[in-house]
Amino acid sequence: MRAVLTLLAAAALAATAAAASGVCNAHFGPATGVADEDATAVFLTDAAKSDGAVCLDGTPGAYYFRPGLPGVNKWYIHHQGGGWCESPEDCLGRSKTNLGSSSKYPAKASLGGGYFSQDPKENPMMATWNMVFIRYCDGGSFSGSNFTTLNVDGTRLYLRGHHILQAVMADLQTRDIGKATDVVISGCSAGGLATYLHVDEWRSQLSQATKVVGLPDSGFFLDVEDPIASEQLGETTPGNYHDGLRWVFQAQNASSGVNQDCIEAHRSTGDTWMCMFAEHTAPHIKTPVFALQSKYDSWQSDHVLSTKTDAMMNALGANITSRLQANLLSNPHNGAFLDGCYHHCGRWGEILPIDGDEQSTAFLKFYYGITEQTFWNQDVTYPCDKCCI
Ligand SMILES: *[C@@H]1O[C@H](CO)[C@@H](O)[C@H](O)[C@H]1NC(C)=O
Ligand SMILES: *[C@@H]1O[C@H](CO)[C@@H](O)[C@H](O)[C@H]1NC(C)=O
Ligand SMILES: *[C@@H]1O[C@H](CO)[C@@H](O)[C@H](O)[C@H]1NC(C)=O
Repeated sequence: MRAVLTLLAAAALAATAAAASGVCNAHFGPATGVADEDATAVFLTDAAKSDGAVCLDGTPGAYYFRPGLPGVNKWYIHHQGGGWCESPEDCLGRSKTNLGSSSKYPAKASLGGGYFSQDPKENPMMATWNMVFIRYCDGGSFSGSNFTTLNVDGTRLYLRGHHILQAVMADLQTRDIGKATDVVISGCSAGGLATYLHVDEWRSQLSQATKVVGLPDSGFFLDVEDPIASEQLGETTPGNYHDGLRWVFQAQNASSGVNQDCIEAHRSTGDTWMCMFAEHTAPHIKTPVFALQSKYDSWQSDHVLSTKTDAMMNALGANITSRLQANLLSNPHNGAFLDGCYHHCGRWGEILPIDGDEQSTAFLKFYYGITEQTFWNQDVTYPCDKCCI
């Protein structure tokens, strides 16, 4: 029997997890999907035993693999998203869902459309590529390496996402990723953040002859405080998003699992936690990155704004735009497709073209250097009803 794990289903799972853990973190990639082949689950059982590459509940980390056309040595690697666990109770709730346990992962699953699509019309650059979908079950954007378990109500929880990531990297070497000509490192939301945090590590694991580019979707989370917003949202952690992610960094012992140049730069000032935020990590990333991002990101606005007035949305949009420019686009080898549609993740092909390009063609042109342009900016104010379908 064919189990279907479309991203829509994954989003439903995330919604369940969100309900269970008390945070609003249901957000995944595109759910359109043409008829495509199933991907096969790979459970990292050996690395779970030898290196503790485990989910929150101690089950092995896992990824899905779908081979590309024979002879295609190009890879698209996607870190699944789904928020973070930002307190012990949150992690306990999450450990009972697919975002914290691999125990219910089906042996076969469909990856869905958008950047996973095998239809070249929908996915002009990568339709024939090998596809890897790394399941997210660690609660910390694949950064954690804490050898002490977190004990909550008598349950042992494991914060070891970085070990899962390293086990995936090692396993892919057995599939000849070492011979790849092209690798795109991607992910959405918490997986978009994972892309910023880990793209240089991926780069270091691959041959120098391999072209590697990051494609983080909706992962440019600002380090913005708005205590009123978190109070209104009833966040489970005291404080807010800023505190929540700082807790993740500390509890997961993530200093060895994020961008190491960022850690070095922040060590003397004692604020290495900043390296958990995309906006602070961006200046340290050496691998070329093409960001897909909304300046009016619906998840960020829900989590950092106390009042979602048009004026506040535009202030957030101005901040996302200016910080993306200052911290990422200041390096001319990076690029971005920055839209003005109110959304989070996906929407591949549904955002109105910017300068004549959709996300897919803008990325293709950036990737192959077909144009000098690196920044596609939908220069609009909020709300923009005509920015997407
Ligand atoms: C935290 O990470 C560091 C660096 O990898 C490691 O030396 C240390 O043992 C870790 N601490 C715990 C509690 O796991
Ligand atoms: C590691 O986990 C333990 C147990 O939850 C916690 O006390 C500690 O703060 C965590 N982080 C580090 C860096 O040790
Ligand atoms: C925008 O950035 C400024 C300066 O850092 C900050 O004071 C303000 O709270 C931010 N506003 C929003 C909505 O992000």
